[in-house]
Amino acid sequence: MEKSLILVKPDGVERGLTGSIISRLEDLGLKLVAVRMLQADRELAEHHYAVHRDKPFFVDLVNYITSSPIVAAVFEGEDAVSRIRKACGATDPAKSEKGTIRGDFGLDIGRNTIHASDSPETAGVEVETFFNAENIFSYTRLT
Ligand code: RTP
Ligand code: MG
Repeated sequence: MEKSLILVKPDGVERGLTGSIISRLEDLGLKLVAVRMLQADRELAEHHYAVHRDKPFFVDLVNYITSSPIVAAVFEGEDAVSRIRKACGATDPAKSEKGTIRGDFGLDIGRNTIHASDSPETAGVEVETFFNAENIFSYTRLT
């Protein structure tokens, strides 16, 4: 079954949105299989966002994601990656539709409340970046 990694970014944790965000994803029928609060150090943040290393916004992105605690979680389900991306909305909250997480909660393109894996391949890498195998759980999700 497909897994996807999400991060509730500092603006989401600081505004008390963690529960609402996890609820929205659980309400899609996705199964929460791992969750953890952490404050990312620069090494972890630079690894997680390595694909953006050469972008002009990279330093701001790393500064932001390391600035305050985040909540990492893994959800599992059919098409989990694409369904979660859809629930997140566009990267820039000004362009995200209402009813999406970023459309409803995002503040600006930096403080856009949630990260979500963008493909099953990156999801596999990202889940391993944030979780050891023994902290990812297996159980039956009752509807
Ligand atoms: P994420 O990785 O956080 O889930 O976001 P995403 O896939 O929707 O967007 P991505 O292109 O991967 O960009 C990663 C994060 O970098 C910030 N960003 N800033 N100033 C800018 O033009 C700009 N572009 C992207 C955003 O915070 C985005 O979530
Ligand atoms: Mg991305």
